[in-house]
This record gives sequence, C-alpha cells and structure tokens, in this order.
Amino acid sequence: MDICDLSPGYIRAIAPYQPGKPISELAREMGRDEADIIKLASNENPIGVSPLAQRAIERAIAGLARYPDGNGFELKQALSRRYGVAPERMVLGNGSNDVLELAARAFLTSDHEAIYAQHAFAVYPLVVQAMGAKGVEVPARDYGHDLAAMRGAVTARTRIVFIANPNNPTGTLARAPELEAFIAGLPPEVLVVLDEAYNEYLPEELRSDSIGWLARFPNLVLTRTFSKVYGLAGLRVGYAFAAPGVADLMNRVRQPFNVNSISLAAAAAALDDGEFVGKSYELNRKGMRQLVEGFGRLGVTFIPSHGNFVSFEVRDAAGVYRKLLEQGVIVRPIAAYGLPRHLRVTVGLESENARFLDALTRSLGK
Ligand SMILES: Cc1ncc(COP(=O)(O)O)c(C=O)c1O
Repeated sequence: MDICDLSPGYIRAIAPYQPGKPISELAREMGRDEADIIKLASNENPIGVSPLAQRAIERAIAGLARYPDGNGFELKQALSRRYGVAPERMVLGNGSNDVLELAARAFLTSDHEAIYAQHAFAVYPLVVQAMGAKGVEVPARDYGHDLAAMRGAVTARTRIVFIANPNNPTGTLARAPELEAFIAGLPPEVLVVLDEAYNEYLPEELRSDSIGWLARFPNLVLTRTFSKVYGLAGLRVGYAFAAPGVADLMNRVRQPFNVNSISLAAAAAALDDGEFVGKSYELNRKGMRQLVEGFGRLGVTFIPSHGNFVSFEVRDAAGVYRKLLEQGVIVRPIAAYGLPRHLRVTVGLESENARFLDALTRSLGK
C-alpha cells in the first residue's frame, strides 16, 4: 500500500502551480552569470523595494527573536488610515494568495461549487480543489470575464465567485458599472472574491469604488497585495477587506502568525511611500507603451492589458520561450491558463523592455 493513495482523489488531482523560472535556476542551467539574465516572468516591480520599506525592514530585524503581532495591529491601522476601512473588516495574509485560500477554507466544502473565468488567475482552481469543492470554469469573452455567463453558472451549491480585476494573465478589466451590477445581482449567500492585485496600476478613472461597495455588499471580499506596485513580492504580504463577520471567519482559519514581523513592518512603511508608488506607476505606464509599440513594429498581436504585464501571441510559444531563455530573458508561458499560443511578459525597466524586444525580434527570426 502506498500512503499517497490515501490522500483524497481531489488532492491527488491538483495540478501544481507553475511559478516563473527563477534567475538563479536559469543561471545554473545555462552556466550563465545571474547579472546577465533578466526576469520578466512574475509581474514583479522592476525598481525594487521602497526606501521607506527598506528602513523599516532594518529596524524590524532587532525584534526577530519575538513572534510577530498575530493581529497585525500596526499594518491594519495603516490600512485603516489609508482606506477608511475598520480593522475588524481586515484579514492579513502571507501574500494575497493566502487570503484567497482563507476565503475558500472558510466557505467551501465538498458540497459546494466555486466559479471563476477561463484564463483567470491559476490560484482560484487550486484553492477550490484543495477543499474538495467543485470548480466551475466559465468560458471567457474576448479573454475577459463574461459576467452574464458567470451569473448564469450560479447554482444553489455556489458559494464563491472569484473575479480578478484586472485579470492575470490577460490584463482584461471588468468595468465598474457592470461589476457593481453583477455583485448586486448575485444571491446574498454567494461570496464574491474580487481580487484587485493590480488595482494600483489602473488610472484613477478606471478604478472601481470597490471599497465603497463593502458597505452595501456583505458578501464582498476584496483582496489586494503588496507584491506588485509596492515591490514586496519576496516578503509575501496581502490583505482582504470584507464584512466583519466574513473577516472573522477567515481569521479563524488563518495560522496565528501567517505574516512575519519584517513583512508587517515593511508593508506598513511601503503603504506610506507615495513617491515610490508614483514612480512605479509611471514607469509601468511608459514601459507598457514601449512594449506595445515594439509589438506593433514586429506585427505581434497582444491582449491590451491594464496590469504590469502583457500577453502576446506567437505561432510557437514554447519555441519562442526557449529562444528567449537562451538569450537570458525569462518570460512566462501560459499554456496552463488555456493560452498555448501566448507568452506573458512583465513590464520591466526601459533597458529590460528593450532587451526583451531585441531578443523577441531574434526569436521570431525577424
Ligand atoms: C490576479 C492575482 N491575484 C493574486 C496574486 C497573488 O499575489 P501575492 O500572493 O503575491 O499577493 C497574483 C500574483 O501574481 C495575481 O496575479
């Protein structure tokens, strides 16, 4: 008897998440200097860590012998000051992946279904399946969420609908009025997990008043992260805003010290570093234009994106991915997202975007 056979079938059937290839791994594989490799594969912030966060990290080191504040008081206060949301409406996570999982753990059993869109963020099916619940993938429309079809997929068993806005890896955006009407039209016993990991890359006029919606929709869970515009992907901090009762349930299934003390301190400091966030936003806007112009010159089709990444179409995605790797450029294959002819590139520094475009030109034999 193999002990692994005793794990539930739905666990054994999980297809593991495929992260972007680390720089160190490619360096080992190719016998290449790490400094010679650029990684545009995981939607990270190319300008690094905010100086305010760096200082907070240095200060927090002195306290590492102690457990972190399991309730994240200071970070919740900082979020509360910024967004006007009460701390009892908050759940902190080891990245927003963690809070996505907490929502699933608090609300799903094997009797339930959860809905997400085709080409949506890969963690939704993972956390749903880990609970033994049934994942229902609704076909995308123009690569984005088909909200009417998602509404149509709701059954008496549905407990969660996941929406990534903007979505990764397609970069599509559901507009605020449609999204608000969608949430208002759902049965109150269906939780909407609205994942806004890339919210800070949206221009003001495209942002939803999702925080304002919390007061009207007790079934709304909003998730955000410090991994993107705040430049703290390696520290793993994310959070959810929800109704106090929902947040309480999610906090009950949370590990007591799921966010470490360095991460808590860094996130609180990063939140106040408006200069760094502004710089990151501007760099992304310019870099996106640079990539899009490059695709235009090369005649490469891409999916217009509202995030810090863009997915583009090539005839032989696996081959182009390999050729880019050979030139020291790591992007992300997204066949697992149902997009076998696309690759996703993260907006980098100007020099990185230029190097990627040069390498792509060579990879396409142009
Ligand atoms: C749509 C979306 N949600 C959530 C996350 C999770 O980010 P993190 O766990 O680093 O907060 C990502 C990361 O790429 C993402 O693309």
